[in-house]
Amino acid sequence: MIRFLTAGESHGEGLVVLLEGMPAGLEISENYIGIEMTRRQKGYGRGGRMEIEQDMAHIVSGVRHGRTLGSPISMTIENKDWVNWTDIMSVEPVAETIERITRLRPGHADLPGTMKYGYSDVRNVLERASARETAARVAAGAIARRLLEEFGINLHSHSLSIGGVWASNSANIDWDKVEKSPVRCADSAVEADMMKAIDDAKEAGDTVGGVIEVVAEGLPIGLGSHVQWDRKIDGRIAQSLMSIPACKAVSIGDGWESVNLRGSEVHDVIEPVEDLSHPWQRQTNRSGGTEGGMTSGMPLVARFAIKPISTLRNPLPSVDLDTGALVQAHYERSDVCQVPPAGVIGEAMVALVLADAFMEKFGGDSIEETRANYRNYMGTVGPRKFKK
Ligand SMILES: Cc1cc2nc3c(=O)[nH]c(=O)nc-3n(C[C@H](O)[C@H](O)[C@H](O)COP(=O)(O)O)c2cc1C
Repeated sequence: MIRFLTAGESHGEGLVVLLEGMPAGLEISENYIGIEMTRRQKGYGRGGRMEIEQDMAHIVSGVRHGRTLGSPISMTIENKDWVNWTDIMSVEPVAETIERITRLRPGHADLPGTMKYGYSDVRNVLERASARETAARVAAGAIARRLLEEFGINLHSHSLSIGGVWASNSANIDWDKVEKSPVRCADSAVEADMMKAIDDAKEAGDTVGGVIEVVAEGLPIGLGSHVQWDRKIDGRIAQSLMSIPACKAVSIGDGWESVNLRGSEVHDVIEPVEDLSHPWQRQTNRSGGTEGGMTSGMPLVARFAIKPISTLRNPLPSVDLDTGALVQAHYERSDVCQVPPAGVIGEAMVALVLADAFMEKFGGDSIEETRANYRNYMGTVGPRKFKK
C-alpha cells in the first residue's frame, strides 16, 4: 500500500525520495518533516559532516495547500557539502584526473560492491552505501508518522546501550528527557558513561556501537496477518530495521531473553474485559506488541543492534583493490558512534511499516474514508457477546 524509494549519493547534489500510497487530505508541512530531519542530525559522537548539513526536505509534488493529494509525494534534500565535491561527483565527465579510492575498508560495502558492479574506484560504492541515504528515509518516515498520529499512534526510541554501557530497563520512559539527552538515553545515571565510552573510542581512533529500542504506542489490534509469511508484522518490522546501515540484529519484545525462560514466564496473560473501550488488556507486554504476525493492541517494542562504524581513524589492516597487497584501510571523515541518530532512523522505518499495514487494513483514498474504516473496525473488536 505504502511504498517508497530513495536516490542520491553521499556527496552528490542531493537526495530524492518518492513516497506513494498516502491518502488524500492528510495535513503535512516541510516544517513538520524538518523536525524529524533535525532529530536525525543530533547525537554525541557524530563526525564533522553534520556540522555542514542542515537538512530540510523540500516537497516537490503530492501536496497542495498543506494537504496530501493522494498522488505520489516527492521530496529533495540538498547536500550542502556538494559544493566541495562538484568535480569528484560530477555527473558529466571531467578533464582532471580524480584520485581513485582503492584501499578497502573491512565492514563496509567496499569489497563486495566493487566486485559486484565491476568498479575500479571504491567511491562508486561508498557514496551510495553511506548512511547519508537515511536522511531520505527519515523524510518519508515523517509523513508516515503524521498519518499514524491522526489515529493516536506515536513513536519513540531510546538508546539502551552504547559502547558496552547499558541503561537500566524502565517501563515508564520520560520521552522528553530522551530528546534532551545527547546520547538519546532515558537513564541519566549512565549518560555520562556512554559519552565517555564514545570519547575513549574517539581518542583511540576507534568506534562504538549499541542497542536501540523503538516503541510505538496506540496501535489497534490486528495490523499485519498470520495468513502469509510476508504479511507478518514482526517479519516486516525486522526487515525494515535490519536494512538500516550497520544494523546486525533485531528482536521484538523480550526476544533473546525469553529463550531461557519457561512458557509461563514468557506469555502475556489476557485480562478479563471490564472496559469495553479498552478490551484485551494484558498483564505484561513481553511479546512486544505482536502475536501471530499481528499487532496485539499493546505497544510495539522492537530492539535493534548497531555495530561500531567500520571507518576507523586508526585503520584496520586491509588490502589494495589494484594490487591485492597489504595496506591500511581508507579513512574518510566519519562518525565515532551512530547509535543516537540510528534511533530516529529506526522510528522512521517502523513508522513506514506500520503506516503500510495500517493502510492495508483501513486504507481509503482519503483520510476521511480511512477514518471511517478505522472507526467501523474499532467498534467490532470487543468480546463477541457485545458484537452488533
Ligand atoms: C546514522 C548512521 C551513520 C553512519 N555513519 C557512518 C560513518 O560515518 N562512517 C562509516 O564508516 N559508517 C557509517 N555508518 C555505517 C555504514 O553505513 C555501514 O556500516 C555500511 O554501509 C555497511 O553496511 P553494514 O554495516 O550494514 O554491513 C553509519 C550508519 C548509520 C545508521
